[in-house]
Amino acid sequence: MFIPDATIKQILDKADIVAVIGEHIKLEKKGNDYKGICPFHNDSNPSLSVSPNKKVFKCFSCGETGNAITFVQKYKHVSFPEAVKIVGEKCGIDVKLGNNSRQQNFEKLYKIMQDATTYYEFYLKNSIEGKVALDYLHNRKLDDQIIKRFKIGLASKENNLLYEAMTKKEEPYLPIDLIKCGLIHEKNHYDMFRNRIIFPIDDQNGNIVGFSGRIFQESQKGEPKYINTTENDIFKKGNILYNYSYALNDIKKKNRVYIFEGFMDVIAAYRADVLNTVATMGTALTDNHIKMIKKLTSNIVLCFDGDTAGVTATKRAIQLFLKEGMNVSVMLLPEGIDPDEYLEKYGKDSLNRFLENEYISSIDYLYSLEKRKLILSDINSVENFKKNIFLYLKMFNSKYIENQIFKRMSDDLELNSKELNNDFENAVFSNDSMFEKNSKDEDIVELKSNSKSRYLKAEQMLVCMAFQKKEYCDKIARLLPFTLNLYVDKGNRDLFLSIVNYYHQNHQMIYEEFCNSIDVDEETKERLDNILRETIIGDDNFVDDLIKECTEMIFKYAKDKKLDMLRNSEGDLDIDHLRAISELKRKTIKIKDRNKE
Ligand code: UTP
Ligand code: MN
Repeated sequence: MFIPDATIKQILDKADIVAVIGEHIKLEKKGNDYKGICPFHNDSNPSLSVSPNKKVFKCFSCGETGNAITFVQKYKHVSFPEAVKIVGEKCGIDVKLGNNSRQQNFEKLYKIMQDATTYYEFYLKNSIEGKVALDYLHNRKLDDQIIKRFKIGLASKENNLLYEAMTKKEEPYLPIDLIKCGLIHEKNHYDMFRNRIIFPIDDQNGNIVGFSGRIFQESQKGEPKYINTTENDIFKKGNILYNYSYALNDIKKKNRVYIFEGFMDVIAAYRADVLNTVATMGTALTDNHIKMIKKLTSNIVLCFDGDTAGVTATKRAIQLFLKEGMNVSVMLLPEGIDPDEYLEKYGKDSLNRFLENEYISSIDYLYSLEKRKLILSDINSVENFKKNIFLYLKMFNSKYIENQIFKRMSDDLELNSKELNNDFENAVFSNDSMFEKNSKDEDIVELKSNSKSRYLKAEQMLVCMAFQKKEYCDKIARLLPFTLNLYVDKGNRDLFLSIVNYYHQNHQMIYEEFCNSIDVDEETKERLDNILRETIIGDDNFVDDLIKECTEMIFKYAKDKKLDMLRNSEGDLDIDHLRAISELKRKTIKIKDRNKE
């Protein structure tokens, strides 16, 4: 797509950068310039500065800088030509994007997904296999109205019925586009979803962009319960909340949203007449999810499972929402069951009452979590309790909450509030967030140096990136070879090795297939799931940065002979390793410099 430089210049001259940015961020005039909260990092003080004269923006904290067009490009995650078009529209300059524009490309994919949905719906209603699937659904009390509303369908157990239907019709689709949508396998063109009940997933504009397929027969036991469309151009879990486009108005109207872990819970709530609900697609909440929700309401009710993963997810979500100044409550269903199971057991009215009334504020939730761990006879336990509660209080940053909690604490600890207040005033807070403090790596964070946890995080992110794309995996394997035993965490290295092996035989990563590879055991899978829970969306530069960060840290510690403290994998670094490390360092710095150019 070619847009003449003159057009771009004309748009930049004409566009009011303060208005363009001000549409997304609150800007305040300070002297000649405007200031606002920077959207490109976790900003608390306004560090973004916009200059109407120079027609540029710059963040003094994270360094992000550019003009009106690049702002839109970064803020809205669109291509440069699309950003030119958007800004052009604002100042009355029409930019024609060619046929191959991203939007038009996507329109085609949306249409394919819509047609596939219709096909699956038809198949559920009009096939012999469909009878069994319908029995299953009816058994779960999903009646025909629900099936229609949630567009539930069925994928046949045959290898390629969808493929045949989509490529042999009057206006056939190309296999390449079906592959892009994640509907058929790249190599043999077999249907991706077979013998599964299909739940379509919409994006925030109501386009169907993915599917989740559930097993429904005894004979399928042992297979993954759900498989989802793999991430592609239109299906990005980090941008998707199930039911969002339907719930929009109800969320606004009620000024509250319920966030569930599974989409079956959304359906259960719907059956209990609670419509202001969304669910994540098996991933942790992302900043993007938060932004999507913030557009509609600031009142959140988190309704995750009561298991360890659910608690971690809840704590993390509380932190993310609080940072945005939103109100968070937590909903705890009895007996550790999910809303769908609750409905089955106690009925619609009971679930409705529960959802409407039984949530508690997030500070109460956090307090009770900590209190459960408290052992009054153990000084360390008491100090830990105080430390954690103080950390939470700092997050809430409210005198009112502080006073309430001090009262409760003084009862529980038999201390007076004044002493507590003193302790609180004198408590030293590190920059560690509550999530890191309470993560599974508690012992690691406790280390004097926090380098290890920082290092491990970078290493984990590298593994995450390697998983996402073969290119990244190849690059990491080249620059940070596992054979050199450079990985600090042996588990990370093993997982990485499995990824390398997988990409040796496959071009595209398919989660389910990867998990079924022979060298992926339960532990490795669990580790992967944990890493993916924090899915990072990065690019080539990000991979380079991570490699650089890892090698630099290894280099530094190897030099200081502190590596033993860092690593827990076997073996010492010998002189060859050290040489290899400095070589790596040189190479990665080169990459970095090249990227800067
Ligand atoms: P759950 O296991 O809690 O499913 O997973 P559920 O909602 O209770 O479903 P039913 O009642 O057993 O049918 C919660 C979410 O995690 C993801 C799905 O998005 C699911 O909605 N998940 C779960 C997967 O992606 N794959 C799986 O194998 C399991
Ligand atoms: Mn369930």
